[in-house]
Amino acid sequence: PAIRLEEYQPPAYRIDTVHLDVQLDPAATTVTATLSLARQAGTKAGTPLVLDGDELTLTGLKLNGEELGSQDFTASADRLEINAPPASPFELTITTQINPGANTKLMGLYRSSGTFCTQCEAEGFRRITYFLDRPDVLAVYTTRLEAPKAECPVLLANGNLIETGGVAGSDRHYAVWHDPFPKPAYLFALVAGDLAQVPDRFTTASGRDVELNIYVEHGKEGLCDWAMDSLKRSMRWDEQVFGREYDLEVFNIVAVSNFNMGAMENKGLNIFNDKYVLADPDTATDQDYANIEAVIAHEYFHNWTGNRITCRDWFQLCLKEGLTVFRDQEFSADMRSRPVKRIADVRLLKSHQFPEDAGPLAHPVRPRIYHEINNFYTATVYEKGAEVVRMLKTLLGDDSFRAGLDLYFDRHDGQATTIEAFLACFEEAAAIDLSRFALWYEQAGTPVVAVQSEYDPERQTFTVKLSQEIPPVPGQKSSKPAVIPLRFGLIGPNGEDMDLSAPEGATVSGDVLVLDKAHQEVTFRDVASRPVLSLLRGFSAPIRLSQELQPDELLFLAAQDNDPFNRWQAVQTLAMQDLVRLSSLIRRGDSGKPSEDVIRVMGSVLTDTSLDAALRAQALTLPSEADVAQEIGKDVDPDAIFAARRLLREAIALSHGSELLPLITSLAPAGAYSPDAEAVGKRALANRALHYYAASGDDDAARLVWDRFVAADNMTDRLAALTLLVHDHMAQEEAALDHYRKRHEASSLAMDKWFMTQATAPGDRTLDKVRALMKHPLYDSSNPNRVRSLLQSFATGNPTQFARADGAGFELVAESVLAIDKRNPQVASRLLTSFRSWRALDPQRSVLAESALLRISSCEDLSRDSRDIVDRTLQ
Ligand code: ARG
Ligand code: ZN
Repeated sequence: PAIRLEEYQPPAYRIDTVHLDVQLDPAATTVTATLSLARQAGTKAGTPLVLDGDELTLTGLKLNGEELGSQDFTASADRLEINAPPASPFELTITTQINPGANTKLMGLYRSSGTFCTQCEAEGFRRITYFLDRPDVLAVYTTRLEAPKAECPVLLANGNLIETGGVAGSDRHYAVWHDPFPKPAYLFALVAGDLAQVPDRFTTASGRDVELNIYVEHGKEGLCDWAMDSLKRSMRWDEQVFGREYDLEVFNIVAVSNFNMGAMENKGLNIFNDKYVLADPDTATDQDYANIEAVIAHEYFHNWTGNRITCRDWFQLCLKEGLTVFRDQEFSADMRSRPVKRIADVRLLKSHQFPEDAGPLAHPVRPRIYHEINNFYTATVYEKGAEVVRMLKTLLGDDSFRAGLDLYFDRHDGQATTIEAFLACFEEAAAIDLSRFALWYEQAGTPVVAVQSEYDPERQTFTVKLSQEIPPVPGQKSSKPAVIPLRFGLIGPNGEDMDLSAPEGATVSGDVLVLDKAHQEVTFRDVASRPVLSLLRGFSAPIRLSQELQPDELLFLAAQDNDPFNRWQAVQTLAMQDLVRLSSLIRRGDSGKPSEDVIRVMGSVLTDTSLDAALRAQALTLPSEADVAQEIGKDVDPDAIFAARRLLREAIALSHGSELLPLITSLAPAGAYSPDAEAVGKRALANRALHYYAASGDDDAARLVWDRFVAADNMTDRLAALTLLVHDHMAQEEAALDHYRKRHEASSLAMDKWFMTQATAPGDRTLDKVRALMKHPLYDSSNPNRVRSLLQSFATGNPTQFARADGAGFELVAESVLAIDKRNPQVASRLLTSFRSWRALDPQRSVLAESALLRISSCEDLSRDSRDIVDRTLQ
């Protein structure tokens, strides 16, 4: 059934307190929930109470301490109705029995490598007990856990620990946790198992002493330093930048190896996919370190944006996710290089969110309808949601933005609220009308902004003509003009930004021009010479810019722009234009020749030591195959795109061969491995140079790659070399894979990279290899990380093989979706979204993709998750 935003009704009953007693057992866990309930004002006495369940077995039910007769309630696995509850507040005691060992969906209470753990967002709590499982029901929880002491020495739940003890006459012990902050059920968590504890402490700004712990499998204690360091820095930063302090006596993090998503912000007890906790230089790349820092921060920041203030309903998901992603992006920007972080975030947005917004799964940042909420944890809700918050900051300025947020924290603390309430705080704090801006939450699709400019030397005017439009989106026939903040500069011939008085035709404050009509013309006066327009600096809005810049203007921006983001963008645009041109030539059977301009620009980036190494590495990274496919938009031939990228890479390598080798050797950071921004930048640039050098045709290149692979003292360099050996199909390919496997067999996170490297290798042999790897002793279809490392990375990171012209790639993924769907619908439906751009493929391929989708669709017992995705993808 469809759930619609406009049909929202407040709950008929309140639940003020929840006492849970959990008797843990792998196959038969007994949960006794004691709920204190009361009618909401406006609920008629006797209104039935309907609680949610999911695969539950009811074994006991009391109302105010009295056993309920069978005529007084109806119970099924997914619903418990109390026919005529008392008019005055009452207590309900519900006993359910569940089987965590058999829970393969990894929602609710399940076991990960023997540890009991939970995932309740969005609707997992109903798999533990019957409940009003919706985010606007806030209760105070007390949780008593009981388990055999030997198997589960560690017993954790939300809040503060208030009591522990042994159970007389048995081998069992218990712990009681109390969380004083009212919260929705999706933030409930418990963990029980035999885990190692890595302790630390933090003193908050106001002097509260907080106990910090990271719990991991025994033997992994040494892999927690970076995560703990990231946590402490997050806590301090949120105090300093947003005035937010931690509020409990303890903050616990648990790392588990079987987890559907990245991590979960359960109050006081964050549960993480272990890939976002565990790191050491030998097994984690620089990217892993950056991800850990960001995800630790993200979950911690949720304590205010998500937990203290939560969502009224799941349509408001972006209220907590968009805002929290924005906050973690800002944190990482402050910890490292702001421009480099911005480029990475925009790359992610363009590669994940733009295709979503341009395909059949497009939806507004705040959707209006869903069938399965788990399918809305999307790049649009998260990443575009963060961009919308960022635009708000750009439009309001730092001070008003902060004032608006302060008001939000102040006014809505302890509430479950909405986007409207959020925006109202900024309207009030900044005395501004945001009703038009709010369209960013309502309209799907990426606006395209077209730009034309004209210089009149006589009148010394520079006129910019802007127009905006959102291309058609499924279910959205028309759209209204959005409010688009465009950060800009007019660059004079000397490379400096011109000083300008406010132009006519648009609101401009400082360096931000606000486009808010379908068409707008802006005229700058007293412009002494023809400027180059640098628009959308810092990617100030999530739009596509269609700006007809001449190659010499792009070259000028690439060399001169004061905005590092737009310098990078200019290099990318030059490369993109050439890749699009080359792929269409190749498609027609011509052999293209890469543009000299692009080769020259890449050469100057390689050698420009005045630029930050990380920025140079970013600029030298060609747009991905998927980026180029997206730019082409229709009738896409992935083989032609692949060939175009190869051609350009080789041309760059051949022209700059002599610069590459010295660069590679000179960039080795001195001393022990460190994940700091400077060392990371050096490794990134050295490995980028190595990537070109490997394509230079130099006889020594393969040897150098192998030597670096073997000699690497960190995973970043080792994996970069391994990827070249395998993706370029060098002679040592198999030897390298073997060498790596032997070295890292014991680390499943390192082995994920081994599977991924092979799954993303170009070439026709990959498909059979992936099939063979599915039978490898280390392949485990019940482990989401392993499934993602092999199948998801094949489907999303190997365009030529997933979209093979014989359809075998689609078939493999379709088969896998069907097999996985039976045990874990969330992992299956995620994998299924890799088909989302099928209509953009050339006719031969899109027919094959469609038939794979139809095959999935024809399966009658698909999960609701996969049914929803396949229906929308085909519609
Ligand atoms: N709230 C979590 C996070 O952003 C993600 C939970 C996703 N869970 C799910 N079942 N889709 O950090
Ligand atoms: Zn989140």
